Amino acid sequence: MSSIGVVGAGYVGLTTAACLAHLGHDVVCGDLDAEKVRRLTKGESPILEEGLDDLIVEGLRSGRLRFVVGATAASTGAEFVFLCVATPQGADGRADLGAIDAAAREVAPVLIPGAVVVNKSTVPVGSTERVDRVLREGGAVADVGVASNPEFLREGTAVRDFLHPSRVVVGAEDAAVGVRVSELYRGVHAPVLVTDPASAEMVKYASNAFLATKISFVNAIANLCEAVNADVREVVLGMGYDPRIGFEFLHPGPGWGGSCFPKDTAALLNTADDADYDFALLRGAITSNQAQRERMVAKVRDACSGTLAGARVAVWGLTFKANTDDLRDSPAVAIATSLVEAGATVRAYDPAAGEAAGEIAGLEIAADPYDACADADALVVLTEWDQFRWLDFERVAASMRRAEVVDTRNLLDPAAMRRLGFGYRGVGR
Ligand code: UDX
Repeated sequence: MSSIGVVGAGYVGLTTAACLAHLGHDVVCGDLDAEKVRRLTKGESPILEEGLDDLIVEGLRSGRLRFVVGATAASTGAEFVFLCVATPQGADGRADLGAIDAAAREVAPVLIPGAVVVNKSTVPVGSTERVDRVLREGGAVADVGVASNPEFLREGTAVRDFLHPSRVVVGAEDAAVGVRVSELYRGVHAPVLVTDPASAEMVKYASNAFLATKISFVNAIANLCEAVNADVREVVLGMGYDPRIGFEFLHPGPGWGGSCFPKDTAALLNTADDADYDFALLRGAITSNQAQRERMVAKVRDACSGTLAGARVAVWGLTFKANTDDLRDSPAVAIATSLVEAGATVRAYDPAAGEAAGEIAGLEIAADPYDACADADALVVLTEWDQFRWLDFERVAASMRRAEVVDTRNLLDPAAMRRLGFGYRGVGR
């Protein structure tokens, strides 16, 4: 078992730290936020992530997981240091590597001989080399290794995705270093690919861009289904049985969002631009994703008899997908905000968004789904929270001014809703 430092206690860092401790390693996780560290030390997870709380408590109890303030404290004496810091999208669409550089500079002087710095943050192709350079400039000893080990964690199922991954990808210039990193995953049953750093970094971008494109594609098919009177749900069923296509990531909706797809597709497009490659397909996927959001706003406008100005709209769901509390780049937030900007009064309910929902300009926050619907001209379902399926829709209809629903996630049963007197608009059916 190895001693591991994890720099950053965000979604990726915390999941990585807790899961590596669960696999039997000795893990010290460092974050700049002293308050977060204090809460984590008491076993309180700052994020909603299934199974994570249990693993944190398990790690703390066993002594295999500790939380400290700062990268230096996390990395001193560690055999492996995982960089799990944010790489937000900069103003120019490129990934901002400031936090990675700072972390590498900070840990450089405390690395022990033979230590390996592993980059888990999503970084443009070429960044492993860059980390290597920053480490040398920062005074790291000569035989420190560097590797890229991209994560494929989905929010909401991050722990499961870490412990039961579809694959483990490690990129390192020195294959022996790559193999050492891959051995940290002993106990995890998955194919392991040890490759060069640029290919490992590209795997991450290519995978996310492919999935985003797949969703944009099915959204386009859904839009076309509306025009030709086909039902996209039947179409997707017929497509998904082809194993080359599969059923996953074929759910039409309000467009993709979240902390990864928008940022990673933009960054890959920039990489293509820098390489003078016209990645028209990816650009199209991004543009149609934006259009999909606008299309949902138009559906709500239709449901409100053609004008949003002065209309009251109930919103169910603000997070970018169900089973997360994350509002980052959420299509739901973008659509709700557009409704406000078009003059509607928007009253929203989300089961997990918490206080962050209150900070969205112009939104009224409802205490429960029924409260959101009081006197509304239309209800719009923006996130596929399961609980929205099982509500008392007679009560919902009775409380609304007009029983109109726009179901951007195809969550509800159109026939049942129509029987209850609702006007129903879904996506692609
Ligand atoms: C994603 C990748 O799946 C993960 O491998 C990567 O490491 C990080 O980015 P995440 O952002 O947590 O994970 O969410 P994901 O479940 O992939 O959904 C992304 C977006 O696509 C959401 O807005 C979701 O609502 C949307 N989506 C997903 C669809 O609209 N239809 C689908 O069929 C699937």
